[in-house]
Amino acid sequence: MRDGIAMRGDWRNETIIVSLSVDGLGSRDLASLHQLLDAGEQGRAASFHFDADRHSYIAAHGLLRLFLGAWMGRSPTQLAFNTGTWGKPALVRGGAPFSISHTRGMVAVAIAPQGDVGVDVEQLSTRREPELEIADRWFSPQEVAQITALETDAEKRERFMRIWNLKEAVIKATGRGLSQELAGFSVTPATDDSSSPSLECHEEWLRQAGHWQLEQWQQGKYLLSVAGINGPTTKPRHLKVTADGLAALADGVPVMA
Ligand SMILES: CC(C)(COP(=O)(O)OP(=O)(O)OC[C@H]1O[C@@H](n2cnc3c(N)ncnc32)[C@H](O)[C@@H]1OP(=O)(O)O)[C@@H](O)C(=O)NCCC(=O)NCCS
Repeated sequence: MRDGIAMRGDWRNETIIVSLSVDGLGSRDLASLHQLLDAGEQGRAASFHFDADRHSYIAAHGLLRLFLGAWMGRSPTQLAFNTGTWGKPALVRGGAPFSISHTRGMVAVAIAPQGDVGVDVEQLSTRREPELEIADRWFSPQEVAQITALETDAEKRERFMRIWNLKEAVIKATGRGLSQELAGFSVTPATDDSSSPSLECHEEWLRQAGHWQLEQWQQGKYLLSVAGINGPTTKPRHLKVTADGLAALADGVPVMA
């Protein structure tokens, strides 16, 4: 074992979100991840203007291939993807539901054994003003009220980002993305470590989608959220993978901190 803990037992029965800090990757790590991508992904990677965006894209798609490959017992390079009506990626030959997210410096992949799943990573902004205009335009009245009830700009700003991050995970779980009515549901971030974020559906189809489960973590200056529909009843697990852990994943054994 190179680092972290080895996952043993029925790890495929859990919803797992794996995050990878892109800043911790060397050029060799990125080259190895790049080699896993197919021609379409490599073409897309080449099209990014800024290295930071390209590196995050390569890390996210490489991590997805490694983790899904380990999960399914298949070679990462043999996985083929297509996209649904609203752009949600899926495995061509079927398999575990998954979701990916990439932002500068941090990427995440979530895999669920059943149901559907959405993941989102956002950087907590250092800007001082809370984005109340965006909240007014896109969030539900309940979510706007959560923000305006707070006293300081810093608290408002953090609540805004936590809500945004959770909402992104929800619209990625349904697969509808931004075609979904963002005010059609309200999320409430957890108030302490022992509770979980909650979701209130204002639209019937969203309620009918099934049992929802939300979790949110902070990793340094990043927020990570996962939303599961009809997944396992156990809490989703967040694992941080390092460059060394990537090598173990390539052998089909997830070894993570
Ligand atoms: C595409 C979207 C689903 C997520 O975009 P994002 O947060 O900017 O970017 P992320 O890195 O988190 O996610 C991008 C990945 O989501 C996946 N994705 C795209 N459409 C998707 C959909 N309809 N459902 C689920 N996943 C989707 C793709 O894999 C994509 O990565 P890829 O293009 O490298 O393959 C969409 O929500 C979006 O464009 N958001 C823009 C920000 C915004 O206005 N948010 C409002 C929230 S309140």
